[in-house]
Amino acid sequence: MEATTFVLFGATGDLAKRKIYPALYNLFVDGKLPNAFSVVGLGRRELTDETFRENVARSLRSFSRREANEGESLDAFLNAFRYNVLDIGRKEDYEKLLRLVEAREAELGAAPNRLFYLSVGPEFFETIAANIRDSGLGSADGWKRLVIEKPFGHDLQSARDLNAKLSRSFAEDEIYRIDHYLGKPMVQKLEILQQANPVLQALWTNRHIANVQITANETVGVEERAGYYDHVGAVRDMFQNHMLQLLMMLAIHLPHNSTSDEVRTKKRKVIEALEPLAKEDVAANVVRGQYAAGEIQGKPVVGYTSEPGIAADSANDTFIAAELHIDDYFWRGVPFYIRTGKRMKEKSTRIVIEFKELAGEHTQSDDKTKAPNLLVFEISPNEGITLQLNTRDPQHKGEFQPMLVNFHTSQQDVPEAYENLIHDALQGDPTFFAHWDEVELSWKWVQPILDAFKDDLVPLRTYAAGTYGPAEADELLARNGHRWRFDD
Ligand code: BG6
Repeated sequence: MEATTFVLFGATGDLAKRKIYPALYNLFVDGKLPNAFSVVGLGRRELTDETFRENVARSLRSFSRREANEGESLDAFLNAFRYNVLDIGRKEDYEKLLRLVEAREAELGAAPNRLFYLSVGPEFFETIAANIRDSGLGSADGWKRLVIEKPFGHDLQSARDLNAKLSRSFAEDEIYRIDHYLGKPMVQKLEILQQANPVLQALWTNRHIANVQITANETVGVEERAGYYDHVGAVRDMFQNHMLQLLMMLAIHLPHNSTSDEVRTKKRKVIEALEPLAKEDVAANVVRGQYAAGEIQGKPVVGYTSEPGIAADSANDTFIAAELHIDDYFWRGVPFYIRTGKRMKEKSTRIVIEFKELAGEHTQSDDKTKAPNLLVFEISPNEGITLQLNTRDPQHKGEFQPMLVNFHTSQQDVPEAYENLIHDALQGDPTFFAHWDEVELSWKWVQPILDAFKDDLVPLRTYAAGTYGPAEADELLARNGHRWRFDD
């Protein structure tokens, strides 16, 4: 892998501690970092290199999936870390940074390939990108890449504005927009499973699939993020990005050995084919919910409006369920049900594919006792695949019994989403990052929902914490003769 300087803005922040350092460490242990690799951490606080390294080591002890015991290997890892104070708005600080980066590159005999990771709020993206350009940090002989975190915009217009600003300093193929759901191993496998298995390929159409259910339920509430969450709600926090990405990844049809460009082109086709919702139709197809007090795993929890930092009259959505349709050859007529919420009964991200009953000669008189065939992709926290088949005792006939065929990987073997994504960004593989077209088209599709919520055209339903959301989310499916699977 090519030599890289990893320039991290927000090096003392929460994301760096919880995700980025552990991911880098695990990549290091697996031998997946470049030989000439250097990290320059940036933050407002004055820190020595020593203290910075101690902080990194502490974060590994708390958050790495592998133990980071003291010793040569940990020292070798930490040795790559330098710290530099930086005020995001001060041009001189970038000039100083350039000198440090150049000095490190000279020390390592490394080409000036620079990955700029912006682990800071989106309000800083533009200033940082412009300063990288103006200081000369971005104009060395090697490559440059910009990795950014969500939220990418607050609505369609603000996303377009932000993109226009970034594109003054970085080309689209230099921008890596993280959607950490795309880094989850099972999400990455969706593409491969479909490509490599004729049995799945053959079934992946409206001839065989009755509906698709995509759920991302969480047990946590707003946590300490009131200031952020109360302005975005579930629709912006989860639906516009993670949920629509899952939909695209599930619905694409890919030829063998597709390139990154093909994957992204096909994803764009899926989202282009999403039937638009008019603002007036949102209420009939989208359920908007907010959690009330309840119990999570036996412990009482307060309702959303009693959470610290949340106004008593907040109408923010903590739950959203929707019925979507993809108007293309493969999926016409198949409802895609999407649901995500906080303070739900269980933490679980999964996709359930419900197959149709074949009509005609195969149908037997006692078919009514049969459960539908289901294919389930468990994405997190457990990773696995389940197939629900029907069986019955051949001697005694009687009712059919559902039989679950399970495959589960053990938690330990699964790399964290951030490991996959950082590795891909270092290699220059954009497959599992959100292309601007996808981001823009997602906002475009979601915009009428934002408008309808704002104009209060969609009633805010409450649900008790520790349940599967408001009853209206069940009715959304029931009107088509479907129900959420695996809600027990
Ligand atoms: C983040 C959201 O993007 O995803 C959080 O901002 C949410 O609100 C988180 O909790 C869920 O991620 P995961 O990987 O735990 O499903």
